[in-house]
Amino acid sequence: MSAAAQRFESTLAPHARRLSTRRIADLVAADGARPHGYALRVGGLYASFARQRYDDAARDALLQLARDAQLPQAFRALFDGQTVNTSEQRPALHVALRSALSTAAVARDAHAQALEARTRMAALVAALEASDVTDIVNVGIGGSDLGPRLVVDALKDFGTGRFRVHFLTNVDGSDAQYILKGLDPARTAAILVSKTFGTQETLLNGAIVRDWLGGGERLYAVSANVPRAEAFGVAPGRVLPMWDWVGGRYSLWSSVGFSIALAIGMDGFEALLAGAADMDAHVLDAPLAANLPVLHALSGVWNRNALGLATHAVLPYDERLALLPAYLQQLVMESLGKSVTPEGAPAGVDTVPVLWGGPGTNSQHSFFQALHQGTQTVPADFIGVVTPDNPYAENHAALLSNLLAQTEALANGFSAEDPQKSYPGNRPSTLLLLDRLTPGSFGALVALYEHSVYAQSVLWGINAFDQWGVELGKRIAGELLPAVRGDDVAVADPVTRALLDEIRARRS
Ligand code: F6P
Repeated sequence: MSAAAQRFESTLAPHARRLSTRRIADLVAADGARPHGYALRVGGLYASFARQRYDDAARDALLQLARDAQLPQAFRALFDGQTVNTSEQRPALHVALRSALSTAAVARDAHAQALEARTRMAALVAALEASDVTDIVNVGIGGSDLGPRLVVDALKDFGTGRFRVHFLTNVDGSDAQYILKGLDPARTAAILVSKTFGTQETLLNGAIVRDWLGGGERLYAVSANVPRAEAFGVAPGRVLPMWDWVGGRYSLWSSVGFSIALAIGMDGFEALLAGAADMDAHVLDAPLAANLPVLHALSGVWNRNALGLATHAVLPYDERLALLPAYLQQLVMESLGKSVTPEGAPAGVDTVPVLWGGPGTNSQHSFFQALHQGTQTVPADFIGVVTPDNPYAENHAALLSNLLAQTEALANGFSAEDPQKSYPGNRPSTLLLLDRLTPGSFGALVALYEHSVYAQSVLWGINAFDQWGVELGKRIAGELLPAVRGDDVAVADPVTRALLDEIRARRS
């Protein structure tokens, strides 16, 4: 049995059995202090865990689990730049991009490199602002796309309005076709973002954009592989660095956020980082029982391992956060979608839930039916913003009342004579409330999720910072490419062979 499995069996399982028939409504009714006692505030972010399906004793057990897994020490190791990504023998120092919370030489060195790169990025931002460029195309995929795309969209109220920012991602050529169609190459700059500069999608799209621009004058790159970027035709002065100690899905705080800085200005970008830095200080300093990312992670572990719930929904009640579920799908599922320990043994416990979601209230009119009455219980993070940045007060009142109503309905349910009109309830959720959506509060929110992911990886005994699971498909795609092009090459798999025959026969 793995260490995590042993800890879960001895610490968590008794409480899971004890609480198996207790309902959320009972837990709330039994403890008048619960609505406040299960909530906490970190800066402009308030979180309520009152509608999770654990009580004080189970919460204590979860905290014991965190102590047994040496979670505080694990966070220290992360911030100190220890080799937490063992399969690639690297630290994961995304925190050093925004915080200086370690005296370890490797972390201080990383922070200094980050500051130097940010200074260079600021100069490029200023030069572009002073130019006649009107449009920016960010070419990248995965972590080189989702973070910048999310932040630019979420913080559009804070945009300087100086540039229109576009994101070219999919290797499907129609993505390039539609994005470039409306743009003037003489007024457009492109940023090729790729940590490795070896990603098929970005190299193909990058070549299209480079040729469309008619030269490298307005071509920029962000990469940990500077020689490859330069060989691709990007002038050395326009290549910003990245480092192997930053995972792609943790990289929006680095030069990967170049398009963010162009959209919201350097001051906005700095404020985003400062918000994340506040969450960094909190996760390191706060005791486990009052530590927001830790409590968020423990709630996830409770739902996954004590209640056996296989999926998790993220439901932002703010249109500006509509891309958050897609961003978190990479952050959470690429980080935690593992089933073996770093030593290669089975994890022995269930790990990542399938993460999905969408914005409220839209989602209420699509998949909420299943959340309320489906056979599977889906725990959810509801996210709301107290004060909006639009003038439509009545809309905002409706938005917030829907948010509150949904969490209440999911938890409490409703009994009607007609079973078809009954709601089982007892469906857990966490509520995250931002006072306002600002660069700072948004930085803190994203950092909360990053730290929650890391905490879960420690509790499950898996590596949050590699992603070997994406490699096999890439390799096979490379092997099949000549056959798809039409070359006469052997294809071993009979099903793939039949499919290729079909494609060839139908291709016009
Ligand atoms: O295929 C997965 C992945 O490696 C992600 O982890 C990464 O964010 C993405 O591809 C893009 O990689 P790169 O920045 O090297 O182009």
